[in-house]
Amino acid sequence: MALKYLALTSLIVLYSLMFIGGYVSSAGLGLTCPEWPLCPNGVLPNEKYFIEWTHRLIAVTTATLVIATAIGSWLNRNAGRKMKFTSTFAATLVVTQITLGAIVINLKLHAVLVAIHLGVGILLFSMVLLTALFAFRIAKKPIESML
Ligand code: HEM
Repeated sequence: MALKYLALTSLIVLYSLMFIGGYVSSAGLGLTCPEWPLCPNGVLPNEKYFIEWTHRLIAVTTATLVIATAIGSWLNRNAGRKMKFTSTFAATLVVTQITLGAIVINLKLHAVLVAIHLGVGILLFSMVLLTALFAFRIAKKPIESML
């Protein structure tokens, strides 16, 4: 079933994004790309802000995958209420997280906002993980129980 692979891909891409986010933060690269939504070079990367640019590019990819998983769970009649809830909550969180990312840049890495950005990221990861677990559970259901 495609939904379980979509949910798993979202989880893996989100994990990579959080890993890169941690690097951006600890290496002090947060303001290498001082504009939002695009870096000074436009959509193209530049050596100076490549890591921060990658964080944003993967953020957009993650958002697309997480929202597609939520839509898929509403369209799949075997997806239960729990999966619909976790995937929809994840979609809301991913939009919130991208908005927060923009505010973090505009407010020049305000410590409280960076902490909230991390907190929302962890909550988002939990929801995407639960969604993937639910997706694999429904994929394992015997065919008869789906009829
Ligand atoms: C789904 C979307 C996103 C997720 C899950 C995410 C996650 C993270 C994580 C986990 C960190 C590390 C935080 C820490 O170690 O304290 C981080 C750092 C950061 N993120 Fe994101 N992020 C997302 C989108 C964005 C976007 C769209 C932007 C900007 C447009 C952005 C800007 C930043 C910046 C500037 C930092 C470094 C903060 C610092 O220097 O302390 N993030 N992100």
